[in-house]
Amino acid sequence: MAIFSDAELQEISELQKRYPSPAAYLLPVLWRLQDKRGWLDDEAMEEAAAVCQVPKSHVRGVVSFYTMFFEKPMGKFHVQVCTNVSCMLCGGEELLADMKQRLGVQNMERTPDGMFSIEEVECMGACGGAPMMAINETFFEKISTQEANEVIDQVVANGNIPTPKFVQQMPELSEAANK
Ligand code: FES
Repeated sequence: MAIFSDAELQEISELQKRYPSPAAYLLPVLWRLQDKRGWLDDEAMEEAAAVCQVPKSHVRGVVSFYTMFFEKPMGKFHVQVCTNVSCMLCGGEELLADMKQRLGVQNMERTPDGMFSIEEVECMGACGGAPMMAINETFFEKISTQEANEVIDQVVANGNIPTPKFVQQMPELSEAANK
């Protein structure tokens, strides 16, 4: 046990009491571990197995099933571009190609400085805002390639993710949607 602090383990233990078994809290545990490490290595999976009292093989199965869990290091800023039907029809494939070229990496690769990685994703549930791109958990909807490049410019310049255009325009609606 080296990744979670004692305080975090205590908090997790309290939360697990709300579930029928410690194992039922595995997904949040994995999400927290990935948030701390950036990806789920062997040690992280071992810790998840111990905390949730399941075999490590079970943890590995869960991690490999969900594409949102990474089994190799990704960038600090993980760019996801949807190319599913709605986004594809609105330019998602062109947006993905442009972002790959801009960042100089292919799908599921990260830049040599560890800042960016890119992933072609399936529908992110934001079809009404197609085409969409996400950086970590921040969604950018109805985004053009020029706007996407401006977003990357701002990340590079400021070291953080800018507020999406639609959030600036409708903060209350957006906050409710992201709860
Ligand atoms: S098709 Fe792209 S978010 Fe649904």
